[in-house]
Amino acid sequence: MPTKLFALALSLALLTWSAPARAELKAIQLAPPDFNAQGLTVIQALKNRKSDRVFAERELSLQHLSEVIWAAGGINRPETPGGSPGRTSPTARNQQAIDIFALTKDGVYKYDPSTHELRPVTEGDHRAAAGTQDFVAGAPLNLFYVADLAKFRGSDEEKKRVAALDVGHFSENVYLYCASVGLNNIVRINFAPEALAPLFKTDENHLILMGHTVGYPPAE
Ligand SMILES: Cc1cc2nc3c(=O)[nH]c(=O)nc-3n(C[C@H](O)[C@H](O)[C@H](O)COP(=O)(O)O)c2cc1C
Repeated sequence: MPTKLFALALSLALLTWSAPARAELKAIQLAPPDFNAQGLTVIQALKNRKSDRVFAERELSLQHLSEVIWAAGGINRPETPGGSPGRTSPTARNQQAIDIFALTKDGVYKYDPSTHELRPVTEGDHRAAAGTQDFVAGAPLNLFYVADLAKFRGSDEEKKRVAALDVGHFSENVYLYCASVGLNNIVRINFAPEALAPLFKTDENHLILMGHTVGYPPAE
């Protein structure tokens, strides 16, 4: 019996030792926007703007990933009249209290606009938790716009109203960027915030307001 136990312990130890180390989720340094890229004019992008519910599974290029997130809430000028850097999306009272989370096949990240970087939050493919519609889990990118209510001024009711207004600008920027470069995308409220909060490591002071699925159109 002790021999059997020893053999079992040894094989377990060997199994653990020989298992490949889990790759740690790393930060993604996003690429700067390409301001010289050929693209549609804003008026042409408005003509093409639409919601899509089919996506190729192919990963986004680093440039598209970087620009779509920058379009949502990146820094576009070093200073506003209040002193803080300016953002691509306006926010009421320039409170800049909307965070962007990104779910990819590798993990969950939080966008840091100051370094234009996706910082790791939770490892693993959690895209199935990103929405209740079938296309969500297969798309390469699901963004979420999350209000950090502790940073908003006013009553609870006003904080929620203003946060909801703010995220509309984030999503419309993404719609226009996607229309301009030929990406498929859709904003969504069909998701369970309670399933996402633990993955985002957010608490009751955060409101997960809107999802935004982005990817390439399926191959013809
Ligand atoms: C706030 C908001 C939430 C939405 N949520 C969903 C959603 O959860 N699922 C979905 O399939 N479409 C969703 N949509 C997309 C709308 O259905 C779509 O915008 C509408 O049908 C008009 O189509 P268009 O965007 O192509 O013009 C949402 C749109 C908005 C503005």
